Amino acid sequence: MIRPQQIAIDGPAASGKTSVGKLLAKKLDYLFFDTGVMYRLATYVALQKLGDVANEEDVTAITKEMEITLRVNTEKDETEVLLSGEPVNQAIRSPQVDKNVSIVASYPGVRKILTEKQRKIGLLGNVVMVGRDIGTVVMPDAPLKIYLLASPEKRAERRYQENIRKGMTADFHEILMDIMKRDEIDSTRVLAPLKAAEDAILIETDQINQEQVVQKILSLIKYQE
Ligand code: DC
Repeated sequence: MIRPQQIAIDGPAASGKTSVGKLLAKKLDYLFFDTGVMYRLATYVALQKLGDVANEEDVTAITKEMEITLRVNTEKDETEVLLSGEPVNQAIRSPQVDKNVSIVASYPGVRKILTEKQRKIGLLGNVVMVGRDIGTVVMPDAPLKIYLLASPEKRAERRYQENIRKGMTADFHEILMDIMKRDEIDSTRVLAPLKAAEDAILIETDQINQEQVVQKILSLIKYQE
């Protein structure tokens, strides 16, 4: 059975990339890797060390020094990211990181460093990698590229429900504004902006759930075999 060694999934904030990617990787027994985590980590460390992310040179230097390790947690069924050996999965999802991460992700030096690390993970094969520029920049040769689409309102609704489920406080309007602001920054930055690769398969997810999206992707793999 010939399967694509690399599957790239891109799409805007809260488009369901992570849940779809995780489920797909599980079904295929592939490594799941969320590249957004790396940009979040760089933002988290910069905020800790510098207090803000305004100085591009300093943030880039911090990104370069960052010691990242991936560990597959078989119990939780996810890839944990360790910073200098410590798990930081929770800390990198704070509202403060949310607010600053698009700025950090727009710095060319930061992107260069992280893109190289991501490519190395891609070369391992049997990987589902999700982000904004995986099909266009990180793994342009990936045999299967998916681009997920959903309206800002639907994405805000999903993120709102997810926060409520996690017991976090959530304000729908604030989430919607944040998503729209991140879309704007992510898609208008000069380097590696958020966009679908020319050969990506677009999947509109407003009307279908994550299981149905995964089924659609699996059917494409069958088709490619
Ligand atoms: O998917 P996410 O919300 O965790 O991504 C966090 C930020 O990182 C988001 O502003 C876009 C950026 N990002 C990127 O520029 N390129 C990637 N491959 C992944 C994420």
